[in-house]
Amino acid sequence: MSGDEDMEKLATTILSCKKCSLWKTRNKPVVGAGSTNAKIFFVGEAPGRNEDLQGQPFVGRAGGILDELLQSIGLQRDEVYIGNILKCRPPDNRNPLKSEIDACTNFLNRQIEIIQPEIICPLGSFAMSYIFEKFGLKQEKISNVRGKLFQINTIFGNVKIIPLYHPAVATYNPNMKNALLEDFKTIKKALD
Ligand code: URA
Ligand code: SF4
Repeated sequence: MSGDEDMEKLATTILSCKKCSLWKTRNKPVVGAGSTNAKIFFVGEAPGRNEDLQGQPFVGRAGGILDELLQSIGLQRDEVYIGNILKCRPPDNRNPLKSEIDACTNFLNRQIEIIQPEIICPLGSFAMSYIFEKFGLKQEKISNVRGKLFQINTIFGNVKIIPLYHPAVATYNPNMKNALLEDFKTIKKALD
């Protein structure tokens, strides 16, 4: 089966998932978006209000920032893949619960397996914590490691992990936007 077919099949499962209680309050699950041939996989946290309404990742203000950041290194959204830790919106955008992360991350794991990215960029501390644990990296504070490159081995080869601040923080803090612009240069270098 091709990556696209695998992803379609997975999407069907996610769209009817009731494995944690978030299905009761969601409007639409947000499967993820982008190319199944992407070299870069961005891992977000969870859908917000706009994402829940549209069923697409990063379509609100944080999405606008993400687009700017991608453009700053000459990338378009359809060249990368964007998927969240949780596929359904937590009420009032509260933090994900451990039980929800445990219930949902099989979907993210499967997406990573299908795409086999060269670079994984967790966005924000929840995504970073999950990805670091998954790949056996020592837990760190995001402020200490954002924009740094970690090399790991996986069953599909070597992967570079580059943790980044969550783009949402840049919507209310211009210093964070500059930090993100700086850290995106690490992605550019890793691609070249
Ligand atoms: N924030 C996220 O982490 N993911 C989205 O899809 C939107 C906002
Ligand atoms: Fe299923 Fe994940 Fe949605 Fe929970 S958040 S209902 S586990 S898709």
